[in-house]
Amino acid sequence: MDTQLRDGFGRRIDYLRISVTDRCDFRCVYCMAEDMKFLPRQQVLTLEELERLARLFVANGVKKIRLTGGEPLVRPGIVGLCERIAALPGLRELVMTTNGSQLGKLARPLADAGVRRLNISLDTLRPERFKAITRTGDLAQVLAGIDAAREAGFQRIKLNCVVMRGRNDDEVVELVDHALARGLDISFIEEMPLGDVGRSRGESFCSSDQVRELIGQRYSLLDSAEQSGGPARYVRLAGYPDSRIGFISPHSHNFCATCNRVRLTVEGRLLLCLGHEHSLDLRALLRRYPESDAPLLQAIQAGLAHKPLRHEFSASGEVQVLRFMNASGG
Ligand code: GTP
Ligand code: 5AD
Ligand code: SF4
Repeated sequence: MDTQLRDGFGRRIDYLRISVTDRCDFRCVYCMAEDMKFLPRQQVLTLEELERLARLFVANGVKKIRLTGGEPLVRPGIVGLCERIAALPGLRELVMTTNGSQLGKLARPLADAGVRRLNISLDTLRPERFKAITRTGDLAQVLAGIDAAREAGFQRIKLNCVVMRGRNDDEVVELVDHALARGLDISFIEEMPLGDVGRSRGESFCSSDQVRELIGQRYSLLDSAEQSGGPARYVRLAGYPDSRIGFISPHSHNFCATCNRVRLTVEGRLLLCLGHEHSLDLRALLRRYPESDAPLLQAIQAGLAHKPLRHEFSASGEVQVLRFMNASGG
């Protein structure tokens, strides 16, 4: 029997992104308001509930799970959860997106637990700018975390950079140099209008084409059709076979036609698309049916029929989705 999850347009859903906590030790300006309020514990899925859902999705065709946050590494018990999810039969890879602050102590345990790849946010290499963008972060600690991850034996490490005009767009080439010198991948991301972060995002919008042009002034870009099962388009640079440069361009190059993913929010809502509010309350079902997964699976299949064809984000910078990124599964 074909148990592969599919949406109403026939797209295979084989990638699940799970927000394991809305909490974070940083307050990045594109992600959070300065005075963020976090959810009370009982509204957040327990580790057992997270594992139960991961198991159900993997049994129904999900091949890749990405743990995100907030900052996934501030959730107590995260390493054990990784170990249990990584061992699920049928899962091809468990990966994580992190801000890097806890990697000094957790990189090795995570690699040992079976996390294969890490995406680490790095928007600037200048300490004072790093403080301004993350509000509470410490650049030296994150750079040390990245080094610890390089030593720990992950298959790949990718840096994520949200490019904002006037804040870090003048550092694009330096960030590429930094990634190339270490054999890391790097993705440049267009900022998305999720949650009211207390500033208009339109003024600082910087398109992937502009970033590409900046890189092109220093390096020769070789187009390549490689995919990682995510929304990024990748290029390589002549003379640097070890690194890939990615562009995540929800505004300027819509990638929804090949969408293969759904997200689990921190409260256990199955989010069908990052750019829409449609979601399905799996937490209620988990708690109503502690013994049987059949009602959950039925609800997931019925919910997927409503997955929208595409997001409708515009580059104006106005908030279009009230949910904040930290609760959404990154
Ligand atoms: P891989 O391709 O597996 O390396 O991961 P990724 O780039 O999809 O994941 P990551 O968590 O590093 O996310 C990078 C950026 O891409 C974040 O800003 C995400 O919000 C964004 N992103 C990931 N998936 C989607 C999506 O389906 N739609 C939109 N609009 N943005 C996405
Ligand atoms: N737009 C685009 N990317 C964002 N991220 C967080 N908030 C936003 C936003 N509003 C990025 C972070 C992290 C990844 C999970 O999402 O930089 O790398
Ligand atoms: Fe934390 Fe990541 Fe949001 Fe920054 S972008 S506040 S590191 S969850």
